Order: sequence, then C-alpha cells, then structure tokens
Amino acid sequence: MQTDDKPLIVYFSATGTTAKAARTIAEITGGTLYEIVPQQAYTSDDLDWNNRQSRSSMEMNNPQARPALKDTKTNVAACNVIFIGYPIWWNQAPRIVNTFIESHDLKGKTLVPFATSGGSGITGSVKKLRESYPDLEWQEGKLLNGASRNAIQNWARDVMKKQ
Ligand SMILES: Cc1cc2nc3c(=O)[nH]c(=O)nc-3n(C[C@H](O)[C@H](O)[C@H](O)COP(=O)(O)O)c2cc1C
Repeated sequence: MQTDDKPLIVYFSATGTTAKAARTIAEITGGTLYEIVPQQAYTSDDLDWNNRQSRSSMEMNNPQARPALKDTKTNVAACNVIFIGYPIWWNQAPRIVNTFIESHDLKGKTLVPFATSGGSGITGSVKKLRESYPDLEWQEGKLLNGASRNAIQNWARDVMKKQ
C-alpha cells in the first residue's frame, strides 16, 4: 500500500484548546485532521476534577477504562507520521486516547504526541504511553500551551524533516 508524506493529525479535545493547536499543525503540514469523538460527549459536570465521582475522575482513576469512540473507521494506513494531541488530565492522556490507539493498527508509524494543559508538562503522559504501548514508535512530543503559530511551525517542520 502506498504511504503518504503528509501526516495525520489525530486529536481529542474536550473544550477546544487542543483542537486549536491541532488545526494549526494540519494547516502547516498540509496533513489531515481527525478528531477523536467520544460516543458520549463530555459535559462540564463530566469534566469536574473537584468531584471524585465525575466521569473524568472515575475514568482516570481506572487504568482499564476505555470510553467508546463514536467512529472507529479512521484510515491510518496511508500515513507514516501521526501527531496525537490531547489535553493533560491528571498528568496523563485521557483514556479515550487509549481507546483510539487500541482500535487502530499503529505499528510502524511515527507517533508524535502533543498536548495542552493548565500548566503540567507532557513528559509524564508520554512516559505512560510508551510503557503501555512499547511496540509503538513514540517521539518525545511537545506541550503546546499558548504556542505561537511560528513556534508550532518550527517544531512541526522539524518533526517532518526527520522522517
Ligand atoms: C478532568 C481534567 C483533568 C485535568 N488535569 C490537569 C492536570 O493534571 N494538569 C494540568 O496542567 N491541567 C489539567 N487539566 C486542564 C486541561 O489540561 C487544560 O485545560 C487543557 O488545555 C484542555 O484542553 P481541551 O480544551 O483541548 O480539552 C485538566 C482538565 C480536566 C477537564
């Protein structure tokens, strides 16, 4: 099967911040955007981190939680590089990112994490992804909090050049 030089930009975003960074990466690289959409959307109550019983708290407290995807038919076969974006939740990638990873054949792809957060770094979440999926090829990734278009451009072009 023929593979494409253009990346796929996969992202989950509950409140739009990561989506914005994802759109910028897609514009700059000419890649295809793909949003990870939960079968059941997250309400603001679901996202309440002060409530231990909220949906997000329950999911993040359970390493086995795999919230269902709305659509599992993304064609990842045609690309070599996949950017994977998410908000940091409790210092990790939201469990629905695991659902996406486990629903697709990502072996042999270069996986490039990116994230937004309220201040936490991306390193802990990438470490966890590497541990969970040691057969996949994870790059270091980048936190894009408030990153300018220029900064995203320099980084994304650098990532693509190394492929
Ligand atoms: C359930 C939940 C947990 C969060 N945990 C963290 C955290 O551990 N560290 C942090 O810096 N920000 C945390 N945040 C803030 C988000 O990472 C931040 O607002 C992010 O930019 C949201 O991205 P989005 O708009 O794409 O969903 C959390 C937000 C939610 C809803």
